Amino acid sequence: MRSSVLSDWLAQRLDRGSEQPLYRQLHRLLQQAILSRELPAGARMPSSRLLAGELGIARNTVTQVYEQLALEGYVTSATGRGTTVADTSPDEIVGASESVTATDRRALAAPLAPTAMPTPRRALSARGARLLAGAGFSKRQWGAFMPGVPDVSRFPSRIWTRLHNKYWRRPRLDLLTYAPGGGLAQLRHALADYLRTSRSVRCTPEQIVITTGIHQSVDLAVRLLSDPGDVIWTEDPCYWGVRSVLHVSGLESRPIAVDSEGIAPSPDELAAPPKLILVTPSHQYPLGMVMSLARRRMLLEYARQHQCWIIEDDYDSEFRYGSRPLASLQGLDTAGQVIYVGSFGKTLFPGLRVGYLVVPEALAESFATASAELYREGQLLQQAVLAEFIAEGHFTSHIRRMRALYGQRRQLLLDAAARRYGDAFAALGGDAGLHLVMQLPEGADDRAVAAAALERDIVVRALSGYYAAPSRAPSGLLLGYACVPDEEIAPAFEMLADALDATLPAFA
Ligand SMILES: Cc1ncc(COP(=O)(O)O)c(C=O)c1O
Repeated sequence: MRSSVLSDWLAQRLDRGSEQPLYRQLHRLLQQAILSRELPAGARMPSSRLLAGELGIARNTVTQVYEQLALEGYVTSATGRGTTVADTSPDEIVGASESVTATDRRALAAPLAPTAMPTPRRALSARGARLLAGAGFSKRQWGAFMPGVPDVSRFPSRIWTRLHNKYWRRPRLDLLTYAPGGGLAQLRHALADYLRTSRSVRCTPEQIVITTGIHQSVDLAVRLLSDPGDVIWTEDPCYWGVRSVLHVSGLESRPIAVDSEGIAPSPDELAAPPKLILVTPSHQYPLGMVMSLARRRMLLEYARQHQCWIIEDDYDSEFRYGSRPLASLQGLDTAGQVIYVGSFGKTLFPGLRVGYLVVPEALAESFATASAELYREGQLLQQAVLAEFIAEGHFTSHIRRMRALYGQRRQLLLDAAARRYGDAFAALGGDAGLHLVMQLPEGADDRAVAAAALERDIVVRALSGYYAAPSRAPSGLLLGYACVPDEEIAPAFEMLADALDATLPAFA
């Protein structure tokens, strides 16, 4: 392309009324011309002075564009030889120069608009497809009756801000860099004290590894303690999020039924020991029962005999309304086979994304190193704030306040349900946690009820979705009450009841 041809071509396309700066427009047009070989490899570019003059724009603009193109490898500049189009041909690598050229010629004719990302030609991996097919994530994370979400509006943000400001006023440099494996020592100490006294967890600070939550803790434990193809027992039903983490890990999940005492493997299942066992002993998720002491002892003994690891997910045990929180399974373990995982997601706020693992002493160093190696953790300043929040007693006071509040909301929900349905209303869930399970008649389509509720702006989750085989699962609805203001509970339940009546007229 001769210089005057190039400047005519550019002049037709530069939009001087556009919000996009001339620099950016010229840069893109020249990129297009080079990619499409309108400006072929080896072609001399007009001097910046000439091109600027012909286009009637500042020379500096052209110089900057040439410099940028040179940095990106589209042109080369050498003193005395001016600017030359570089050879950007992909032929030798992809052997598809014809189609590339044809595509780019069309692109050259196209109006100047931000280039859309091409649709990826390759499909998802089998693992990726499996993850998405079973995804349980909901875009709505707030409102009546979103399960598992605490009342974040009650978080003592003034105290948090004070502590935050204190650390930011003169930030310690070691808090602004990557985390040492395992997380900030100050937080691990504060947590060890809390877990020992409140959860009967037996640990030293060195056994604690800070993570971004239970999802990451389980991911790390599974990666370090099992290989693809190994079997993991999960409770049936169980939390969809952890099930997804296991799904992509390549483990074979074996759903094990639960009864009133917790996970209840059959003799056949016991005859084929897994590598890992994942349980929620303090408050089975989502049904709410507590694992009995006999079952705990059976499980620990079985794991000891068969060299299995137990992952104890202690996601919301702080919230018991009629009795004191129960001791952890980890506290009964004398063989160093329990990996305890917990989170600040329910006790403080989910968006904080801080959780922790407590691992047996012999594994502590490996877990800390692996966490740094895999996730390159940071957020130390936030960890320092959290450590001080705990050490100053705000954490336990917040839990105490929230426990009273959630207990009251739970009762308000039960009252609203009783008013509407009387004895026909049956709930599972024990007197604990942030949600209860409303039982529906056998065979009722709980997903249809959840969909009808959503049309009325009420979020509930269908119980059947937590089972490995939803079509054969009991029917019910998970109702989270923790994040619903007191005065909204009864009206929201009425809306839900309308959805229920519309979907299951026989229930009323
Ligand atoms: C049983 C269970 N485990 C883990 C989690 C998630 O924990 P985190 O937010 O710390 O990843 C949840 C969230 O609802 C849960 O219900």
